Amino acid sequence: MSDLKNFDRMFRLDGKVALVTGGSRGLGLHTATAFLLAGASKVIISARKNEGPQGINQAVEKLNKLNVSGKAVGIAANVADTKDIERLVEEVEKETGGKLDILVCNAGATWGGPFEPTPDWSSQKVLDLNVRGVFNLARLFTSMLSKSARPEDPSRIIIVSSVAGTTVPHVGEHGTIMYSVSKAAAHHMSRQLAVELGPRNITTNTVAPGFFPSKLANGLIEILGGEQELKDWNPRKRLGEPEDIAGVMVYLASPAGAYVNGEDIALDGGVRYAQGRQSKL
Ligand SMILES: NC(=O)c1ccc[n+]([C@@H]2O[C@H](COP(=O)([O-])OP(=O)(O)OC[C@H]3O[C@@H](n4cnc5c(N)ncnc54)[C@H](OP(=O)(O)O)[C@@H]3O)[C@@H](O)[C@H]2O)c1
Repeated sequence: MSDLKNFDRMFRLDGKVALVTGGSRGLGLHTATAFLLAGASKVIISARKNEGPQGINQAVEKLNKLNVSGKAVGIAANVADTKDIERLVEEVEKETGGKLDILVCNAGATWGGPFEPTPDWSSQKVLDLNVRGVFNLARLFTSMLSKSARPEDPSRIIIVSSVAGTTVPHVGEHGTIMYSVSKAAAHHMSRQLAVELGPRNITTNTVAPGFFPSKLANGLIEILGGEQELKDWNPRKRLGEPEDIAGVMVYLASPAGAYVNGEDIALDGGVRYAQGRQSKL
């Protein structure tokens, strides 16, 4: 027998404080839910809008109906804007007394269209949020993350990228070149941050989802032929589900993921490898 320390806490987040950007819906809300269910004491969700059926307030209300001891709190911020990230840092500091263990950079934007008429603003929007925003979140929250970080229990940065960061998923009429490029940058950012921040007891990893139904993805899912078409194409015969993102996020944020640093975990059912099914050999 081997002496595995605290195996019963391996996938737990008891007492941890997390910030999830883009936490008001979609993958961010699944992540915030999972963190609270895994024992986090506080999960702060951030997005631009407080009000409305997809705003922060309704998400916080739902999260605080979970039968757990942890609490959800919402703070609105545009994380494509550096000044607003600075304000978010100050507000998180006030809210948590300066303790932050887990930063999930999940908020992202996409744009699709034909190559030559691509409006310049679309590239700027995508790069400002998916690349510069993620860099500035990591940079400006490092001081807080390093306070509670320990060699045996590092703080965590998790960047939500996309399998589009390692493949060329869409060209032509609905091309997503700059989105794909921005996600490739996010992958490499996590490798850079892994080496920069590892010695400060902060790990950085990337989660790269395939298609999960969401406001951001639903338009493209329809353009590509609808959910059934994409399920048929996928080796697992389905799209991503909330539990899929929950499992990977809790793994990376918990003691089980403490030695994983600079990795990207593709979460797509293996569909990025599926070209071989068309082989005529
Ligand atoms: N769903 C998929 O199939 C899929 C696949 C691959 C990768 N991803 C990635 O997963 C992440 C989440 O996507 P999702 O599908 O869950 O999208 P979603 O349902 O549209 O949610 C996006 C979230 O980000 C927030 N947000 C958008 N722009 C923001 C900004 N400038 N500042 C702060 N918050 C902002 C949104 O709230 P507000 O609009 O109120 O700001 C919302 O909370 C993205 O990085 C995306 O690229 C998703």
